[in-house]
Amino acid sequence: MTQKQDTVTILAIESSCDDTAAAVIKDSKILANIVASQTLHSEYGGVIPELAGRAHQQYILPVVQQALQKADINLNDLDAIAYTRGPGLMGSLLVGSHFAKGLAIALNKPTIGIHHLEAHVAAHYLQDQLPEFPFLCLLVSGGHTQILLVKDFLNMEIIGSTKDDAAGEAFDKTAKMLGLPYPGGPLVDQLAELGNANAFSFPKSKMEAYDYSFSGLKTSLLYFLKKQKETDPNFIESRLNDICASMRSTIVESLLSQFEKAAIDLNIKTVGIAGGVSANKLLRKEFEKMAQKHQWRSMIPAFEYCTDNAAMIAIAGHYKFINNELGSLNDLPFAR
Ligand SMILES: Nc1ncnc2c1ncn2[C@@H]1O[C@H](COP(=O)(O)OP(=O)(O)OP(=O)(O)O)[C@@H](O)[C@H]1O
Ligand SMILES: [Mg+2]
Repeated sequence: MTQKQDTVTILAIESSCDDTAAAVIKDSKILANIVASQTLHSEYGGVIPELAGRAHQQYILPVVQQALQKADINLNDLDAIAYTRGPGLMGSLLVGSHFAKGLAIALNKPTIGIHHLEAHVAAHYLQDQLPEFPFLCLLVSGGHTQILLVKDFLNMEIIGSTKDDAAGEAFDKTAKMLGLPYPGGPLVDQLAELGNANAFSFPKSKMEAYDYSFSGLKTSLLYFLKKQKETDPNFIESRLNDICASMRSTIVESLLSQFEKAAIDLNIKTVGIAGGVSANKLLRKEFEKMAQKHQWRSMIPAFEYCTDNAAMIAIAGHYKFINNELGSLNDLPFAR
């Protein structure tokens, strides 16, 4: 088992999309993890980038103050300030990166830019038991779906990825077509628990190697609903739970079949899931089942570390700091 290293105190800021978050980590233990989710986007059915940037401006100071207070840490106790350095919405990233740099200048401390997707994977290092490397991680979020071979803490290679929509998008678009509010993923999951997953059959994409595609599934749901509504205008209302359950199981089956193939081919012994969709109840259950079947060690993050949060930025920052991989004030708000 890899040993944890106890050294540093870091303030971390996450502002890549529509969550303003701050966390404090000391000796690789999270002391505070605050998230202000921007609910204002739900009335538009999706994130409005300009509004997200403005809301980050409003929330960032109180969120950081709350994190420092909860952690009972003085600004002078910090060794570095980590922040999300893309991918994400430019206006949102600018708020977090400029706040981090301003604070770093005032305190004369270094900044550390963190790749948002690497941070989702780094959520696994917040567990007491660290993984053995290499492990295979299914990263399923609002904007990405990837299979990553993780060779060391922040050294990972993309083995497969979606060619169109992300799994989170597939959930959110399902919700939108069913008239559910944004972000619909958690609601589809909740309603699916009450439905019959075998009620309807939707197509699963057949992609090469370890890649994914979810756009065909979206189109098939669109035409399916259109056809059903011609004969029963109340079709969605009357079969909502069954539609959610059938869509959820189709997405989860697709995710796991490609992942299982990759893990077998690469002779992997440790597997993990990460990103917002890893909060999905069926995915968590089926992932665990798959791991047990193959006697793989499985890692599933706590719910609070699945969707966007700053604790994952903090732990990634911790490992970068101890490797002396510090940022510069000239760093762009996104990595190339
Ligand atoms: N229980 C759930 N079931 C299905 N989807 C879920 C669940 N909980 C959250 N999601 C989905 O997770 C996504 C949000 O995840 P996350 O915050 O990691 O994405 P993001 O940061 O917007 O995208 P990225 O990390 O790719 O930049 C949304 O699409 C949301 O619907
Ligand atoms: Mg994310």
